[in-house]
Amino acid sequence: DWVMSDHVEEAIARIREQVGDEEVILGLSGGVDSSVAAALIHRAIGDQLTCVFVDHGLLRLHEGDMVMEMFEGKLHAKVIRVDASELFLSKLAGVSEPEQKRKIIGGLFVDVFKAEAAKLKQAGGGHKGASFLAQGTIYPDVIESGGKKAVTIKSHHNVGGLPEQLGLKLLEPLRDLFKDEVRELGVALGLPHAMVYRHPFPGPGLGVRILGEVKKEYADLLRRADAIFIEELRACIDEKTGKSWYDMTSQAFTVFLPVKSVGVMGDGRTYDYVVALRAVQTSDFMTADWAELPYTLLKKVSSRIINEVRGINRVTYDVSSKPPATIEWE
Ligand code: XMP
Repeated sequence: DWVMSDHVEEAIARIREQVGDEEVILGLSGGVDSSVAAALIHRAIGDQLTCVFVDHGLLRLHEGDMVMEMFEGKLHAKVIRVDASELFLSKLAGVSEPEQKRKIIGGLFVDVFKAEAAKLKQAGGGHKGASFLAQGTIYPDVIESGGKKAVTIKSHHNVGGLPEQLGLKLLEPLRDLFKDEVRELGVALGLPHAMVYRHPFPGPGLGVRILGEVKKEYADLLRRADAIFIEELRACIDEKTGKSWYDMTSQAFTVFLPVKSVGVMGDGRTYDYVVALRAVQTSDFMTADWAELPYTLLKKVSSRIINEVRGINRVTYDVSSKPPATIEWE
């Protein structure tokens, strides 16, 4: 629509004016906000933007490849992909407390990002190093960090203080926008609907969806189970609304429970891990109801996971609302 395209032109002009001929660095996560910010800034200044995509090994199935395909392949943006999965997994070994896991993941993220920014500066070849750090901060983030909450239930990992540490100026082109507007902007910039309307994914990724200690074996099982759940949610269309159950829910994912239960398969006994499916509906993520997914959908997801993911022999559905439960299990 013309209002949005006006907004795009205006935003592009503002970015060009602010950046001039300097270089910008941006941490790309694959989430909606950083993706839209990257696409917008790339449209404005092209190769003056370098995206750094840190793969912490706790992403969803094929997520890293999809991010690269979109930004490097389709948009032709400069993207540095850092495979830091071994580093993250080694520092997480033996750690099971959720907040401690969040701190480790958030801290390593900053370290890896800083190291990449420093490398760019040394690389030479005409690259004088970035003078701007771009972030996909949106208006609700601005308000949230202003108001102090009395109790921190979960420390949401953000890169607060990073620009100062790096000696960079901030570029936040989405600062005045609400989530819906960010999504519309993403569509106007040509990002695919499925990317722009993706459910939120926490910064620590599967790190907080594997209960207790994070292990590569668990992450690999969880990724495959979760991909099946999401695929079936997208494929299942609700007759009343004509929408998929993916679009009918605000957030849906699979949680890995590191406990074993007994099952039977063919003539044999199995003793394997359990996963929980979680799907919620919410308008603000402060309160949430568990989604009344169709039984036929649950049945299909459960049988596919147990048949296709060797190592998981039991699937449960989480029927807890927030409060008193939270959306994530950690
Ligand atoms: P809870 O579990 O607190 O989740 O009900 C509310 C929303 O916040 C997301 N969440 C996180 N996002 N870093 C993030 O970036 C985190 O550490 C984190 N923990 C929870 C969660 O996915 C949900 O959308």
